[in-house]
Amino acid sequence: MSKFEVKGKNVLITGAASGIGKELSLLFARDGANLVLDDVPGKRASLDQWANELHNKFNVQVWPFHIDLAEEKGPEKLYETAKEAAGRIDAVINDAGTLEYGNFADIDYDKQYIMIKVNVLALYKLTRLAVPDMIIAGSGQVMNLSSCSAFQPTVYHAVYGATKAFVQSMSEAINAEIKGTGVKVLTFSPPYTKTPLLKSGNMPDKMFWYKISGLWDPAVIASKGYQAFKQGKVICIPGPMNWLMHSLVVRMSPHNLLNAISLWAMKGR
Ligand SMILES: NC(=O)c1ccc[n+]([C@@H]2O[C@H](COP(=O)([O-])OP(=O)(O)OC[C@H]3O[C@@H](n4cnc5c(N)ncnc54)[C@H](OP(=O)(O)O)[C@@H]3O)[C@@H](O)[C@H]2O)c1
Repeated sequence: MSKFEVKGKNVLITGAASGIGKELSLLFARDGANLVLDDVPGKRASLDQWANELHNKFNVQVWPFHIDLAEEKGPEKLYETAKEAAGRIDAVINDAGTLEYGNFADIDYDKQYIMIKVNVLALYKLTRLAVPDMIIAGSGQVMNLSSCSAFQPTVYHAVYGATKAFVQSMSEAINAEIKGTGVKVLTFSPPYTKTPLLKSGNMPDKMFWYKISGLWDPAVIASKGYQAFKQGKVICIPGPMNWLMHSLVVRMSPHNLLNAISLWAMKGR
């Protein structure tokens, strides 16, 4: 398994002002990567401050961008400006995402649509733009943020789970296709993690499922994804229990049973 040498590499990270993306940017900067960071325009001040902190503490170059990935040409604009700034992009971390919880028919249409644009379309576009450049260069890595929600239908966040199923499926398939090119795609599938995401989109404070999966610390989750990325792994589901549940148990269980359990375990309490 070939390893990814972080020092001196140019790494593009989306969703970098918050949660798992922010923690990942800290780990890459600490090991000497130059960073292109993006988050929503509304987080301009906090992203710029974070970029300054990383630059001052670790003496790496950090370019903050405030491009909305849900905009029509947002991902294209980010990739082009990132290349202009950094010269070349050695790694892309597709972390930006949104989540909406509730009954499918009640959740605001525009919010569901934006979730599909960010979680699916923007991630697809950035992967599609970066991988061919990396293949030509003969090296590079992508980390796509999927979720444990990718492996079975997630009742009350049906569209969110479906966006992650897209990420999981596409990323695993691409990685298989590009074997031998020097380029890899890591599909990173965390369990529920205590970030602002779980306080957004009407997510309930309590669900029975949290008792099974746990509510993880973002720094711990980021560190597990980061280690997998550096080691050149292509699948990462943090935690042995989560791995067992989502890689084996749900794949061997009848769908009707899974959906009934999901209906019960995903209800807000
Ligand atoms: N937390 C979990 O339980 C969990 C579990 C598994 C997988 N994940 C995945 O991990 C990734 C990071 O999640 P997180 O929990 O760290 O969430 P987070 O703290 O909310 O961070 C995500 C960041 O992405 C930004 N973003 C959203 N839409 C964007 C857009 N249109 N353009 C640019 N940036 C945008 C968010 O801004 P806003 O705050 O303005 O939306 C936020 O700053 C997501 O893909 C998520 O689905 C999370």
